[in-house]
Amino acid sequence: MNKHMTSFLSKNSFASPAYIHESAWLTHIPFAFTLVEKLQPKILVELGVHTGSSYFAFCQAVKSAAYNTICYGIDSWKGDEHAGYYDEDVFKEVQQYNKENYAGFSYLIRSNFEQALPSFEDGIIDLLHIDGYHKLESVSNDFFNWLPKMSKKGIVLLHDINVREKEFGVHLLWQELKTKYPAYEFKHGYGLGILAVGSEVPKELAFLFSKINKSKEIFINTAFGHLGSYVQHQFEFKKIINHISTLEESVKKQNHLISDQQDLLEKRDIHIKHLEQLNNNLYKQLSGLNEFCVKELTAVVQNFNQSITNNSILNRIEMMQKEQNNILQKLIKQGNQNKKILDEVCVLLKK
Ligand SMILES: C[S@@+](CC[C@H](N)C(=O)[O-])C[C@H]1O[C@@H](n2cnc3c(N)ncnc32)[C@H](O)[C@@H]1O
Repeated sequence: MNKHMTSFLSKNSFASPAYIHESAWLTHIPFAFTLVEKLQPKILVELGVHTGSSYFAFCQAVKSAAYNTICYGIDSWKGDEHAGYYDEDVFKEVQQYNKENYAGFSYLIRSNFEQALPSFEDGIIDLLHIDGYHKLESVSNDFFNWLPKMSKKGIVLLHDINVREKEFGVHLLWQELKTKYPAYEFKHGYGLGILAVGSEVPKELAFLFSKINKSKEIFINTAFGHLGSYVQHQFEFKKIINHISTLEESVKKQNHLISDQQDLLEKRDIHIKHLEQLNNNLYKQLSGLNEFCVKELTAVVQNFNQSITNNSILNRIEMMQKEQNNILQKLIKQGNQNKKILDEVCVLLKK
């Protein structure tokens, strides 16, 4: 391993990104840190900021090295067919983060790339990152429109040089450009192409653009590939941590609900006990009342039966008296008839 290889990596290559957001660019952040440190750009421009993963990596490197770099992030912040269309919150969050962390040297320009062109004089941009719409025509326009703005030591980065789907055409442009300018390419993270488009290759980057030899390529690509996947893992880790804290939050809510339910159950049990007590008392009162009613009713029925019995005896006595009277009447009638017969017999005897 020659000394250029190891000296190309620095402390900054291993720095942790302060801002991590879902992005296809995450694995290139260690190279962004290294590149800014080596190039020390006066003016840095990014075409296509979206949520800011690449742009804020450049800003972090500028701030930590305290360079006099001025950074411009240009985007319509509306999205496109490849990145997807998104809402206003994306711009608001990026704007807020920029204001809080990099307000002193970083400016966000919300416009089309072409509309922003006249704001930049020719020959002033040291580092240009092109990561807009990825169709061949768009990325070619972006490159050739902005090429005159590049300084003598100008470096252009092209993202997605290894994507061959959804009409991505950066790889076609890259095939053409890498033969025209000193070039280096990373295969990982959808591919990142690095071009020295100025008349002078910055000497700090000479090693990168020097004649490709296998061991250099293996060393650089392996080193930045591993550092990049470490950043990707940090992001995945952050996502898992966020997921865990969301889960913890929902477990907390569930626990509150459970303890509320337990309180309610305890209250319900107390209420049930109270109702059972009331029920028992009522039952006792009812059975007392029942016994009393049964006694009273029995007495009433007994009295009633008695009175029925009394009445029937009286009726019989009355009937017997009537019978007696009938018999008496019959006897009287018979007596009278007998007397009459006796009188007639007497009369006959007298005769
Ligand atoms: C792939 S994203 C950028 C990703 C970003 N560099 C990162 O690190 O995640 C592409 C962005 O370019 C923007 N864009 C595409 N074409 C544009 C144009 N012509 N003018 C302005 N913005 C454009 C889109 O709005 C989108 O936010």
